[in-house]
Amino acid sequence: MSEQAFLQRTTTCGALRASDEGRTVVLNGWVHRDRNHGALHFINLRDRYGITQVVVDDDAPSELQNAASSLKLEYCIAVRGIVRRRPDSMINPDMSTGEIEVKAEHIEILSKCDVLPFMIEDENNAKEDLRLKYRYLDLRGRGMTDRIVLRHKIVKALREYFYKTDFLEIETPTLIRSTPEGARDFLVPSRIYPGKFFALPQSPQLYKQLLMVSGMDKYFQIARCYRDEDPRGDRQLEFTQLDIEMSYVQRDDVLALIEDLMGDVFRKVLNEELPAHFTRLSYHDAMNRYGSDKPDLRFGLEMHDAAFAKDCAFNAFTEALSAKGAVKYIVAPASGKKEYTRKYISELEDAAKVYGAHGLAWMKVQDGSLSGGVSKFFQGRDEEILAETGAKDGDIILIVAHENWKKCCNSLGAVRNRLGADLELAGDGYAFCWIIDFPLFEYNEEEGHWEAAHHMFSMPQAEYIDHLEEDPGAVKGDLYDLVLNGYELASGSIRIHDIELQKRIFRICNFSDEKAQERFGFLLDAFRFSPPPHGGIAPGIDRLCMIVSKVNTIREVIAFPKNTAAMSPMDDCPAQVEDIQLRELHLSVDADKE
Ligand code: AMO
Repeated sequence: MSEQAFLQRTTTCGALRASDEGRTVVLNGWVHRDRNHGALHFINLRDRYGITQVVVDDDAPSELQNAASSLKLEYCIAVRGIVRRRPDSMINPDMSTGEIEVKAEHIEILSKCDVLPFMIEDENNAKEDLRLKYRYLDLRGRGMTDRIVLRHKIVKALREYFYKTDFLEIETPTLIRSTPEGARDFLVPSRIYPGKFFALPQSPQLYKQLLMVSGMDKYFQIARCYRDEDPRGDRQLEFTQLDIEMSYVQRDDVLALIEDLMGDVFRKVLNEELPAHFTRLSYHDAMNRYGSDKPDLRFGLEMHDAAFAKDCAFNAFTEALSAKGAVKYIVAPASGKKEYTRKYISELEDAAKVYGAHGLAWMKVQDGSLSGGVSKFFQGRDEEILAETGAKDGDIILIVAHENWKKCCNSLGAVRNRLGADLELAGDGYAFCWIIDFPLFEYNEEEGHWEAAHHMFSMPQAEYIDHLEEDPGAVKGDLYDLVLNGYELASGSIRIHDIELQKRIFRICNFSDEKAQERFGFLLDAFRFSPPPHGGIAPGIDRLCMIVSKVNTIREVIAFPKNTAAMSPMDDCPAQVEDIQLRELHLSVDADKE
């Protein structure tokens, strides 16, 4: 069989430099821009490596002129030509190939392009759903291409780090038993076993623990995870984790590994030197000082307890305190970026109310004294309050009082985040921190029982083990989160490896021994056979790529993501299937409920 011959590239569109002058080359790529000056044609030819300017001179043979005239945007073409230096006045320092151009000798159209839904730009401003419908075109744009390339480099560097060491890369199944792990499972019906289902893994959590029982004492995997939860900027239905588990480790071993790994990857890929150790904050301190368990530490704007609220005439403050809640403040600095108008303060208040605040109290500092807002309740106390808060002229003191400490913290934390963004306090760098000493359990108000704050396999800290059941809310776990620039980048824990302790945790989380056996029997069985002490962690790769790409949704770093409505506009899924497919799976769809 003869092959269809075409002019195959000898170089890419990003490679040619002045030193290539005189070479005859073949380029393959897309027509990015096309300008005619009479009989003189300039064609910017693009591939993923860059753009090269191709010129058809005005004295070129008519056949070549005609070929150039027939080109349209995004035609896929081959060009043979000679590299020549551009005249000095035409050098483009913004292009890697800006010193040269290729004088075309022959142009061949490899394939034509239909009317484009949008122009291929560095960053595409079309509506996101349109971009996603034609994602393959969207990916041709420089910005998307660069992000996909950066993601590739990050994943490569992560793998290389582990290949240097004793870690084994092991794949685990993606058709598994449905085991509660926090989110809702995606289910896969079994054709062979009517009425039975596989689940897609929310993470390889149980398998990696089983691998520890097997003696694979250092495991990693770039694992696809599936969670049926509402998508957000930093959440997708399917996403990728760097999943890690190790035997015979304690918390600080895991933390040290991740610090070394991140240091290595940031150095290699971003030429960025990270501190050897990341700041550590207890969950309590993170909440108390920054109002979040994922604080953005690129800026300060710390929250403080308002001592001035103790004896005052403002009931909202005194009531919150007598209910053993909290009254906290931050001092927002005078800034050229924002004026503290009533309108802006009420926007900040709205941000606080999302987290349960009843309101946002405020006092401005003007000419060395307090004014506006709740200052009337603090008359004569200006000096004391200014000394306590350190607030200066032009600053505003923002205060949240709540009978519930956590709600108080979260609400003011939301104000802190909003100010951080609006006043552009964060800067460009990277602020990693560890959050440790998390509570092991959270109370599920709706269902009326305790549940695991992380997952049910995490170890309580030693001093709590004897009394877990007495006050589950007070128990701290051997849990850790890695936070980067205000995002939770990774979560992990030291695991339980004692079958009796594991059963106690299940019971506290409302799983009877029977129910636990039914859902997690295979893990409990394995734990009968001398499991080693072990622990691990899982950084989210999409989030890491999002942060270092300086974009604000993970959709920008995923080749084919789902949209904000949890579907894919390109292949229009989820989609209906043929009745016969449903019958084979022993399923029927209840059309009324649809
Ligand atoms: P966790 O559920 O905290 O822990 O997930 C770990 C990390 O995965 C990323 N992540 C997500 N990224 C995108 N979309 C999502 N829907 C999404 N959900 C989570 C985050 C998060 O920090 N098995 C445990 C880890 C362990 O204990 O070792 C787990 O999955 O970056």
